[in-house]
Amino acid sequence: ENVPLNIEVNGSVHQAKIDPRVTLLDFLREHLQLTGTKKGCDYGQCGACTVHVDGQRINSCLSLAVMNDGRKVTTIEGLADGAELHPMQAAFIKHDGLQCGYCTPGQIMSAVACIREGHADSDEEIREFMSGNICRCGAYPNIVAAIREVKG
Ligand code: FES
Repeated sequence: ENVPLNIEVNGSVHQAKIDPRVTLLDFLREHLQLTGTKKGCDYGQCGACTVHVDGQRINSCLSLAVMNDGRKVTTIEGLADGAELHPMQAAFIKHDGLQCGYCTPGQIMSAVACIREGHADSDEEIREFMSGNICRCGAYPNIVAAIREVKG
């Protein structure tokens, strides 16, 4: 039986009735057509599905949409300020922090959280915080460089 869901995503409030088994990831991608958030493994191992909920990063594949009732979600689509990229998006481009790009939305959402949560004081700290975001192309050194630049 479907249950009501009231959720704010990138500043827009959505009211829906959904199957309580739907993950936040599938809700974002399939109900809201916000396909920037990627599904890599669907079981918490790759970080491609990383979003922010009330400012904290989570793996959206491990969270049921209904568990986020009343919360505020930010996805990669909500990061830019109109036509202006978020500084982390610009830094990923500048430092080539991507190759195929599939993991990039999750990497960027984690990278923003890395700085916001105060884990970007050294390369080691950055690598530790970012260790749940897997990049099959191996762009890790460039990702760290991008984060270091935004940290300043
Ligand atoms: Fe969620 Fe891989 S899709 S961690």
